[in-house]
Order: sequence, then structure tokens, then C-alpha cells
Amino acid sequence: MTDLASPDRLNEARTALAEAMALHEQGDLAAAERQYRVALAHGYRAVEILPLLAGLLGRLSRPEDALVAWDELLATEPDHAVALHEKGLTLHWLGRSDAAIAPLERACALDPDNPTALGNLAVVLADVGRNQEALHCFRRALALQPDNLHLRHQVRRLGSGAVPFWHIPMMNDAPRNDAFEAAIKAAIAVAGPDARVLDIGAGSGLLSLMAARAGVRKVVACEMEPLIAEMAQTIVAQNGYAGRVTVHAKPSTELAIGAELDAPADILVSEILSSDLLTEKVLDTFEDAHRRLLAPDAIVIPRAATAMGCLVASDNLADYVFVGDVSGFDLSAFTAFGPQRLPIHGTMTGWQRLSDDQELVRLDLTQKKHDATLARLRIPVTASGRAVGIVQWMHIDLWEGVTFDNHPSGYHDGGWLQVLHSFPEPIEVTAGETLDIAVGHDRITLILMPLESG
Ligand SMILES: C[S@@+](CC[C@H](N)C(=O)[O-])C[C@H]1O[C@@H](n2cnc3c(N)ncnc32)[C@H](O)[C@@H]1O
Repeated sequence: MTDLASPDRLNEARTALAEAMALHEQGDLAAAERQYRVALAHGYRAVEILPLLAGLLGRLSRPEDALVAWDELLATEPDHAVALHEKGLTLHWLGRSDAAIAPLERACALDPDNPTALGNLAVVLADVGRNQEALHCFRRALALQPDNLHLRHQVRRLGSGAVPFWHIPMMNDAPRNDAFEAAIKAAIAVAGPDARVLDIGAGSGLLSLMAARAGVRKVVACEMEPLIAEMAQTIVAQNGYAGRVTVHAKPSTELAIGAELDAPADILVSEILSSDLLTEKVLDTFEDAHRRLLAPDAIVIPRAATAMGCLVASDNLADYVFVGDVSGFDLSAFTAFGPQRLPIHGTMTGWQRLSDDQELVRLDLTQKKHDATLARLRIPVTASGRAVGIVQWMHIDLWEGVTFDNHPSGYHDGGWLQVLHSFPEPIEVTAGETLDIAVGHDRITLILMPLESG
């Protein structure tokens, strides 16, 4: 409502605004706010005053009040790009990131060439975990401002954050790649070029590319991490196989015959086993694929995976999993929170074996169903020492005569790590005796637990 009909009121409003702006410039923000509000109370030039007032309230660290001012402006000017942008930033500041997205998206739609708004939308999207959309916004902003180092940093940060640290060493692991390619070629030689290949967990698309290069006409791949799936599509196209390899950005459990696959697959290739054999969904994934996506006699690569291991002593690794007296205090109770599984890499080699290699758990991946298992394994102790746990590695069987493993004697810094499965507490063992271990899995983790020494 305006009360500017009388010249006196108009003058009062004008004077208040002029004073407010002068005070604002001098840094007397409290007094400036009062005068802005006097001018606004007269209904004077609200569209120009409200952004100034909101900005001032922001500087006074009063985001709730700033939000009221932005909303007041948007009530009369719903498509005010600056107000929408600032409202989004203010909501984000208040921790209301979900609510911040709509005004920021609208601001970007109204002002599509504004890299700052795009960058801010991306920050908020990343904050709420919508990383793929965030990356697209950062990329659009960077295209508008190619020299902006902040944007370049964010594009790299989000891209690399989508991919675990072991992914590139895994891709560079030539013996692994060669083993997969040998098995894939052998399978296609048997099944023929019309065999339907399903690649679960495409990553870069490498195994699908190998299958296409081996002559197969149709590969359906899926990758559940959308940013990685998008990259796989790019890589497949860059290598000239887009006509034969299709990458779907979804988990295998969301594929269906009659949709992504026109018929059950004759060959399954996948590399979704973690260093400690099982992650949360591996067995579910294989069972689901057998039940819904594969021909009954489908070739499965790899066809089996075995967790291998040996009993170890290590002062170095003990310090990662056990705690005792510290600075004269008994902190040993904290050992209950020590890592049960500790991935170890090429630099963590300070351990000694106290037994020969043992087969711990074998998974037949051609099997349609897997139950949890638990059995007693009697490990002959070959050297005396303080056993801290079992160092475990993987052996996979890909095809007749084609195997691959990350045995610690010859494999360092590839994609797979060896894993220490620590005991709840160290156990003194003597050469010539045996140590009984419960070994098995609960479908989602490997179980290795000492039963008794003797
Ligand atoms: C170890 S990487 C292997 C990548 C590629 N196949 C290779 O060998 O270079 C496994 C990939 O599988 C994906 N993945 C795991 N389980 C999946 C599933 N059930 N459906 C789709 N993708 C899956 C992960 O996101 C990851 O990118």
C-alpha cells in the first residue's frame, strides 16, 4: 500500500531512502535498516529498496529476516532472477538446501548465461547428494567461464568423487585385463557372434569393449553409478563401438527382458567382486541375474571366486586394530571398535605369515542360489608368533585354464587390495599346533573368527 499521495509523505519517503543509502555506505547498518523500513512503510520504491535491505540483513547475519525481504520482493516480482538467486543462497545458508533448489533452478532458467547462479545451484545440488546434476551445472558454468579455477576444481572434485580410488589402478591392471579378455574371447569363440552378452557393472565399459572387439554383435551393459555410466557411453562411442554396446545407467536389478534386453543373455561378464569377496549386493546381483536375465546354461565370467588367506603376525598391522596402554592410561576397551577388516596395500607389507595359504570360502558363481555358510577350518601353524588375524586375497576362475589372483607375494597396488581380517585380540600361536577358525559368509560379508587355539 502506498501513502505517497501527499507531497509531504513523498518527501519523507525520499529523504528516508537517501539517508538509508548514505548510512548504508558509511557502514551504519542498523540505522540504514531503520531508514529503509521508513521508506518501505510509505510504500516507496519497494522493488529497489528490498534488495538493498535484504543484502544489508545478510551482512548483519540475519538470514531469516533477509529471507522475509526477498519473499516480499518475489510476492510482487515472482520472476526477479536476483531475488530468486539470493533466496536460494539464503535458504542454503540456513541449512534448508532442499528448499533452496527450486528458487536457484528458476533463477538459472531466467538467466541461463549466469555462471554464478549455475555454480551456486551446483553447490546446493552436490550438498543434497544430487552429484550428477551438480556436475552438469558446474560443467555448464565452466563452459561460460573456462578460466574460472573454482569451477574447474569443482568439476574435477565431483568427477573423481564418483569413482572409488581403486578404479583407475584396476583399469591399469594388465594381468587382470588380459585374463578377462582371454576368457571373453574363449566364450565368444564357443557361443558365436550372435551370443547376447550382458556386462553387469560396466565401469569404463572395458569388458563390453573387449566382447565387442571379440566379434560379438550385441552387448548390453549396465552401470549403477550414473556419472560412470555416462562416461562409459562416451568411451564406447569414442572407441567406435556405440553401434554394438549399449550402456544403461541403472543397477542390473532394474534391467528386464523385453526392455533393455530383448532375450536372456548367453554370456554374463562382470567384475563386481570386492577385495574381500563380498560386498552388500554381490550375491543378490548374481542370483537376480540368474533368475531373470540369463539363459539357463549361460556362460558366467568369472565362474568362481575364492577367498584365500594365511595367518599373520604383524606389529605394524596390530597398531591399526588394537589399542592398549596409551600415555599411562588403559584404553584397551576401545579395541572393540577396531576395524574388523582392514584393506592393506603395497606399502603395508610389514607382516609375517604364520601358516601356509588356506582356501577360506569359494563361491560358485554359476550357482543360482547362495546360502550363508559357516564351517570350522583347522589351520596348521607353521611359525610361532602373535597372530593378529588373517590376510586374505582373491582368486578368480574365469575360464578353463584362465585364472587371476592378487596373491600378496606378487601383487601390489592393483585394483584389488589384500585385506586383514583382524582377530578380536591377538593370539599367541606355536609352530606345529593348529588354530581353529570359523569361516564362511552371511551373504554380505566374509566371516573369519577364531574358535580356539590348541
Ligand atoms: C570393479 S568395477 C568394474 C568395472 C569394469 N567392469 C572393469 O572391469 O573395468 C565395478 C562397477 O560395477 C558397478 N556395479 C556394481 N554392482 C552393480 C550392479 N548390480 N548393477 C550395475 N552396476 C554395478 C559399480 O558401480 C562399479 O562401477
